[in-house]
Amino acid sequence: MNFHNASVDIADSAISQWPDTDSLYRRFDALVKQPIRPIRRDAMAKVLDYFETRCQGSKRLSEQAKQVIPGGVQHNLAFNYPFPLAIRDARDAHMTDVDGNRYIDFLQAGGPTLLGSNYQPVLAQVQTLLHECSPITGLLHEYEVKLAELVCQVMPGVEMLRMMGSGTEAVMGAIRLARAYTGKKRVIKIGGGYHGWSDQMVYGMRLPNTGRMEAIGIPRGATATTQESLPNDLDAVRRKLMWNRLRGGTAAIIVEPFGPESGTRPATRDFNAQLRKLCDEFNALLIFDEVVTGFRAGMGGAQGYFGIKPDLTILGKCLTGGYPMAGGIGGRRDIMMMLVGGIGTTSKRAFVGGTLTANPLSCAAGYYALLEMQRTQAAVKAGRAGDRLRQGLEQIIERFGLPYVAYNMGSIVHLQTSGVMLLDTSNLLKLVRAKNEAKARKHMMEEMGAAYTAHGVITLAGSRIYTSLADTDDVIDDALNRFEDVFKLV
Ligand SMILES: Cc1ncc(COP(=O)(O)O)c(C=O)c1O
Repeated sequence: MNFHNASVDIADSAISQWPDTDSLYRRFDALVKQPIRPIRRDAMAKVLDYFETRCQGSKRLSEQAKQVIPGGVQHNLAFNYPFPLAIRDARDAHMTDVDGNRYIDFLQAGGPTLLGSNYQPVLAQVQTLLHECSPITGLLHEYEVKLAELVCQVMPGVEMLRMMGSGTEAVMGAIRLARAYTGKKRVIKIGGGYHGWSDQMVYGMRLPNTGRMEAIGIPRGATATTQESLPNDLDAVRRKLMWNRLRGGTAAIIVEPFGPESGTRPATRDFNAQLRKLCDEFNALLIFDEVVTGFRAGMGGAQGYFGIKPDLTILGKCLTGGYPMAGGIGGRRDIMMMLVGGIGTTSKRAFVGGTLTANPLSCAAGYYALLEMQRTQAAVKAGRAGDRLRQGLEQIIERFGLPYVAYNMGSIVHLQTSGVMLLDTSNLLKLVRAKNEAKARKHMMEEMGAAYTAHGVITLAGSRIYTSLADTDDVIDDALNRFEDVFKLV
């Protein structure tokens, strides 16, 4: 099953070095054990003043939005304190809001735009497709085949691909497929991981061990066969597999291969390889959720980086280069054949669908975006930008004597200041304590996000940064100066 992609030279790897997880977890522990270190109150007043004086257009639009859109916000990852910014244009490494303020864009729409925003060569191809065909026909288009061929060529575990409407849909489909193929029901996820918002996966989200905490509106039955296991705890996974074996078995283990929440709690170097072994031992399928890592960790994704072949792979985000309908299930041919589509199919199948799924626009965008990622070595270059940013952040943090923790896996950079996502929830007592503490820490994270924005840097939820091909050394150095200005306010 395992393979080692010896041809990937470290110089060509998007991840120059896997973080030292022992040291990181010690630093996380130290961060959450001490009181929060937020921005000084007088300085925070000035940050909020930026929004009042410079962002009136955004404020007006967000007020208007509240009348017709619940809470005025439709993006879970977007930063929206003190109110959401309305963006006028996004290009390469920058965004400009409706008031004309320019920002370095480290949100990158939540991850898909590895080439930078609105990458012109892909836009040109999409425009040609729209003129020649139509965004949608409901019938087969050449770009479906081209995209699938390319993904099968670069991703070690993908022998066949079926497009889906989103990462969430792809996860739903993959789990259904795993159950159909194995004839088993139970699915183990790693606590704190995000696998979209389907009924069965709103379980143990964000913080490990939180089970149904966010499962409002979801019947118990829908999560009854979902189990969560603490990150990096292989013994706990084994125990679950053994317990399940006595009750009909485990259909699949689903995992974000870099660790829950895009590596917020990084996986230890060997964790995925051990999961692979456990899946083989217990006849469960291994599902890699590569919605974030797919193509961002290199063309071969996290599976290429770790040298592990999952049975099924979930793709999203980068798969369509920032264009709509980003979702896909890839995997072993014998399993994938249970996803046969069309009317008149008599074979036993796991049913999936979607009117707009696999439309020519998404497939053309994805095909050309992936080709460009390959040609430009986008993941490697974005990874180097991530390294440069993380190194700079570490230096500033150290110089200022702050407890914050910066780390990265290539172009996925984490900047933990409040530690809210790192609270210890490993037992009931700690979980109760964490729930009480989370509110203040979450607010601090919002304040940090607001302060970065007021200094011209947009992050993901004030704690994560995606770099892209567009992030030159100049962009990163500019960003570091801005982060330094924010840390001076603490
Ligand atoms: C690891 C992971 N899986 C699944 C999803 C869900 O994808 P989508 O938002 O396209 O439904 C996300 C979204 O952020 C994700 O990060």
